[in-house]
Amino acid sequence: MLPLSQTVFCFASMMLAYAAIQNTFSSESSWTVEVSKHWDVLGPFPMQAREQQFISPSFPLNLSEPIDFAKTWPSSYADGGRVTWSSVNFEDLGDLEISFPDIRWESLRATEGWAALQHHAVLRSTLTVHPPINPSKSTPVPHLLVQLLQGSYFTILPKNGRREPRWYSGNIYAMERSLPQEVPLPTLPSNDSATHYDIFISGDYEIRLFGDPHTQDREIPVQSISLSVKFDDAFGSVVREATQDIVCDFVDNFAFGDAIGLGLRSVDGWWTVTNVSTGASSGLTLTLIRPTRIAEGQTRIVPIRITQTRPFSQAFIDLKITLTSGASETIVTIESLPVKQLSGWTESVYSPIKGTYFYARSMPTIFLALPPRYAGPPKPPILALHGAGVDVVDQSFWADALPRNSHSWFVIPTGRSPWGLDWHGPSTKDAWASLDALVTILAANTVWLPWKLDLNTPAIVLGHSNGGQGAWYIASRYPDRVLGVIPAAAYIKSQSYVPLTLSRSARFIDPILLSVLETSLTPDNNDLFLTNLVDTPVLAIHGGNDENVPVWHSREAVGILETWNPAANVTYREDPGEGHWYSTVFNNTQVAAFIDDLIASYPSTTAPSSKFTLSVSVPAESGSLHGWRIVALSIPGRLGRLRVERASDLAVRIHTSNLQRFSVDTTVYNISTIYVDNSKVHISKDKAGTIHFEAVEQKVWKTSNHSEIQLSGRMQAILSSDGPIVLVIPDDTETYPQELSVARRIAHDLGLYHRLDTEIIRSSEAFDPDFLSQGNIVAIGNEASASFMQNKRVPFEAKGSQILPCYAPQQPLDGPEIGLLFLHSHPMTADGNMVMLQSTDAAGLERVARLFPIRTGIPVPDWLIVGPLADTQGAGGVMGAGVWGSDWSWNEPMSWTS
Ligand SMILES: *[C@@H]1O[C@H](CO)[C@@H](O)[C@H](O)[C@H]1NC(C)=O
Ligand SMILES: *[C@@H]1O[C@H](CO)[C@@H](O)[C@H](O)[C@H]1NC(C)=O
Ligand SMILES: *[C@@H]1O[C@H](CO)[C@@H](O)[C@H](O)[C@H]1NC(C)=O
Ligand SMILES: *[C@@H]1O[C@H](CO)[C@@H](O)[C@H](O)[C@H]1NC(C)=O
Ligand SMILES: *[C@@H]1O[C@H](CO)[C@@H](O)[C@H](O)[C@H]1NC(C)=O
Ligand SMILES: *[C@@H]1O[C@H](CO)[C@@H](O)[C@H](O)[C@H]1NC(C)=O
Ligand SMILES: *[C@@H]1O[C@H](CO)[C@@H](O)[C@H](O)[C@H]1NC(C)=O
Repeated sequence: MLPLSQTVFCFASMMLAYAAIQNTFSSESSWTVEVSKHWDVLGPFPMQAREQQFISPSFPLNLSEPIDFAKTWPSSYADGGRVTWSSVNFEDLGDLEISFPDIRWESLRATEGWAALQHHAVLRSTLTVHPPINPSKSTPVPHLLVQLLQGSYFTILPKNGRREPRWYSGNIYAMERSLPQEVPLPTLPSNDSATHYDIFISGDYEIRLFGDPHTQDREIPVQSISLSVKFDDAFGSVVREATQDIVCDFVDNFAFGDAIGLGLRSVDGWWTVTNVSTGASSGLTLTLIRPTRIAEGQTRIVPIRITQTRPFSQAFIDLKITLTSGASETIVTIESLPVKQLSGWTESVYSPIKGTYFYARSMPTIFLALPPRYAGPPKPPILALHGAGVDVVDQSFWADALPRNSHSWFVIPTGRSPWGLDWHGPSTKDAWASLDALVTILAANTVWLPWKLDLNTPAIVLGHSNGGQGAWYIASRYPDRVLGVIPAAAYIKSQSYVPLTLSRSARFIDPILLSVLETSLTPDNNDLFLTNLVDTPVLAIHGGNDENVPVWHSREAVGILETWNPAANVTYREDPGEGHWYSTVFNNTQVAAFIDDLIASYPSTTAPSSKFTLSVSVPAESGSLHGWRIVALSIPGRLGRLRVERASDLAVRIHTSNLQRFSVDTTVYNISTIYVDNSKVHISKDKAGTIHFEAVEQKVWKTSNHSEIQLSGRMQAILSSDGPIVLVIPDDTETYPQELSVARRIAHDLGLYHRLDTEIIRSSEAFDPDFLSQGNIVAIGNEASASFMQNKRVPFEAKGSQILPCYAPQQPLDGPEIGLLFLHSHPMTADGNMVMLQSTDAAGLERVARLFPIRTGIPVPDWLIVGPLADTQGAGGVMGAGVWGSDWSWNEPMSWTS
């Protein structure tokens, strides 16, 4: 803990350049670190995307054993079937180019396509720490900050004497404004001589990230990894990380939003921001949304609500924050939070406006809005979803590509980050919430009222590339909120984009277990949900020569839609010869006419088709179709379908497949008699509104007041939190340092990949409503989990070297390196959830921590047990996995036990 008061200063954060940064201050008085230019490289090994989370990042090496640099390893990519180490010198750590020119890539891809370019490699180099030449008394070793771009994981180990590696994730997408990871050295460096460590990187070539080498005029896939390692030169206990700040634009001196956020990092100690204020003369009032605790090493964005009583014309906001740590309290002045002042838009002049709102109640979040030319009665806005890697906050590309509309607003959500979750989960929530935020902002200021939008307004959705995929996704999961959709250069689903054919796991795993794991991809499989778009106008667009997303994807999606409804209003526009992006993708008369027609006919009175089918995989992440909604499945993990056929004016016939509960809103879909499977149900007139149906036994239905939505389905549900995700660690971090380390890594990764806020709390604080009522919970390790198991029925428990079933009919599992993670109901809120990570030892906890679903498409269902075989066999090392039944019950058909 530290002496405070005078030691806290706030600085603009250091901007980390992507190039190598060595320690810049003088080696006379401070510690320095360098990474050798010499690298050893082992690879390539076939590996499908997202196997990295199961297989050891050092595959095929076991880092607990000495490395034999002369050894050869099997790899089906190499001539002769074996590969060995090679050495490379890199002048610039910012540019580690890894390639394997001896592999006949063209021959592999001739039969396997892009799948054959996906590969894994291990990189090793030496990291050297030098003590100060003239230490002033004893200069403590500062924190090491490591930034890895476009690599999946890294670890630092002592040179001699191996120990269990702790893997840290890299910023594999090289997303903007990312902060480095703070990495403790595995052993203390010597005070009087240089200390050498090994640094290992897992390098994984993924088509989605690195592209087709042919587009760069080469045959050989090249990984372009960048590494920077330096000692933290922050001066003070809490430092400002200005790259993380969130500020809205002001339009005619009024804030376009109510949220600002201040990026703060705690260098030393645990700190809580308890108050915030600004000078009374400014006309702004700032209120802290909630006390914000920042754990040592953590960065959080302090959520501040902005309210305004009169115009504010300055270029900066000055504010004061109160920080407390234990008994000490200090007030820090933050000067000059820059504000962009815009003048109001006109018919001929406008610029994209940066709005803000609080995502999940307290996470300050940016979106962009493009105003229409003319004021008038509310018209449906256009939700415009960007492609993967497109940063809408600092780059103008996407906003500039959209042709301004005369009557409709464009809303440009970030989707949390440039990649987000591929517009699923939190990214979808962010898209709708950004739209709702614009509605609120326009309604709150009389000047903007002529431009206002309807509450819960439906939208037109368009998107390009990953955003085109997202447009299919959002439209088909929320069909009643979407008037029309324009997916451009869209891929259908990730497994069709780059096939999983060279999966390593698949060589070892029981195909039935694999299918249980892959149920967690089902909710993202856009093709299966096109049934939900049979009554939605669609204009699909694709460049005929797209080098990034193959053009067949759009043709196929359109064909599927027509199979469900030959009369579907779907138009396919193929622009011959065009590539992935071209300036007329959306800027053409066909798109303009399509949008203008939708706007002109709003609100539409078109009747639903007489027959349609609603398909749902995760009810909590799916809306209604013509008022019909699937609320719970009978066997979650399998697809649920509801077929509606209008039999006469007021009678409808329903066929269900795998449904437990569904509902209909009779103000949207008017009925009085309904035949559901084998049951006839009469709806009395006084029952107008939403009517719920429940299966009392298979295919026997009655109306019901049971409306509880099924919240489980896959591990990724943990990310759809309604507040900061609460990471629970044991009280005693001296005895359990690994749990704190896992919490920090998860906090860092959620911040980096999804801009999701986390709060780290201790077990003894569990059940303190101030903390637990916030959002979903992750209990890290057996001790932290135990505090939640007293009153709760949990399916499994890790005790000593065993994983014991509580009610799950799985045999006890005994052994080292076994990890367990499962999704569970939230202890305090009915619509939240929690995850418990448990293990038989430290290595097992590392194993399941890597399976926490940070990236899209990691196939982890509701529960999973995994052991040491995973290091070499990927998901082949899974010892049990499954999806819960509705209401968190055991689901025998969707469970695989060993
Ligand atoms: C270096 O000196 C510090 C302070 O005296 C001490 O705590 C630390 O253990 C020393 N490091 C080693 C490797 O001996
Ligand atoms: C926060 O700071 C303001 C301004 O200094 C002060 O008026 C207010 O009472 C403080 N609120 C709390 C809860 O300390
Ligand atoms: C759309 O194209 C027209 C010319 O056809 C051009 O004047 C206009 O600037 C373009 N708009 C955008 C947003 O690119
Ligand atoms: C399809 O929808 C578009 C957009 O609303 C509309 O312009 C067009 O007339 C519709 N076509 C048919 C056949 O209904
Ligand atoms: C439903 O249909 C009946 C009979 O056609 C009609 O009287 C009633 O107003 C309708 N209700 C709604 C909500 O459309
Ligand atoms: C649902 O209906 C049952 C039986 O009619 C009743 O006992 C129960 O209180 C109702 N529950 C709710 C939440 O309305
Ligand atoms: C790695 O090597 C150590 C030491 O030989 C051994 O104890 C451990 O079981 C090995 N790990 C795996 C996953 O094989």
